[in-house]
Amino acid sequence: MKVTVVGAGAVGASCAEYVAIKDFADEVVLVDIKEGFAEGKAMDLMQTASLNGFDTKITGVTGDYSATAGSDVAVITSGIARKPGMTREELIGTNAGIVKAVAQSLIAESPNVIIIVVSNPMDTMAYLAHKSIDLPKNRIIGMGGALDSARFKYRIAEALDCPQSDISAMVIGGHSDTGMVPLIDKAVRNSAPVSQFLSAEKMAEVVEATKVGGATLTKLLGTSAWYAPGAAVSELVRAIALDSKKMFPCSALLEGEYGLNDISLGVPCVIGKNGIESIVEMELNDDEKAKLAASAEGVAAVNALI
Ligand code: 2OP
Repeated sequence: MKVTVVGAGAVGASCAEYVAIKDFADEVVLVDIKEGFAEGKAMDLMQTASLNGFDTKITGVTGDYSATAGSDVAVITSGIARKPGMTREELIGTNAGIVKAVAQSLIAESPNVIIIVVSNPMDTMAYLAHKSIDLPKNRIIGMGGALDSARFKYRIAEALDCPQSDISAMVIGGHSDTGMVPLIDKAVRNSAPVSQFLSAEKMAEVVEATKVGGATLTKLLGTSAWYAPGAAVSELVRAIALDSKKMFPCSALLEGEYGLNDISLGVPCVIGKNGIESIVEMELNDDEKAKLAASAEGVAAVNALI
């Protein structure tokens, strides 16, 4: 399998590293516009191969999309990251043009690629990709929910003082500080509802901490997070590579699912060799339905800006 990662910044390089360490891809091509940057990151990562025990070949190129030809999966992380106090939506002016150009460059070299969009505002960037290139809708995936769900599990396990591996929980909706919908009423510790262990007040605290998980880290780090975003998108790449049919919340182009149309929004998706194999319509309670609808309105408002 050939994987391209556009953007050799912290998120892109972390994604490349995790893909390599998980060792399911033959090669990873890192692309950046900064002269020598992707080449340097690739060489540094390759010098960990004997230490981390992987055979994946990582190469870097500066702006040369011919090196990405024949990619099976391409991850778009390029664009600017937010600074403390910024929303993801404020990045649209810079990132929209970058994502559109990158998507067009990728498809020109790899007509059958599966594109995973990470750049923010992610749901709108994924929607832009759907509108900018001729790919079936199942081959454009927005990565946000996998990351948000990981943060949700972290917060629940923290509150329960239990291993994260005991927690199953999902965040749907927009990948935004206000639009996320952590499905707290569906979260379980092994097979026991989380509500059995936490008060309503504590569950509300967990939900709110999840929604601002990105902003919390941006405040601490001075820039957007990279380890968890890189790990989350590497798991989507692995599900495609292994045709695992694993279910992740991903931003998918909706055409009637959940009563929504002409929008890319975080919903449960089965991920396999064809990208989004299917969209799963879960039973949502009235509160969850209302929050998802409100989230869609928020994303649609940002979509109107592109
Ligand atoms: C985050 O939430 C970068 O949007 C990404 O950390």
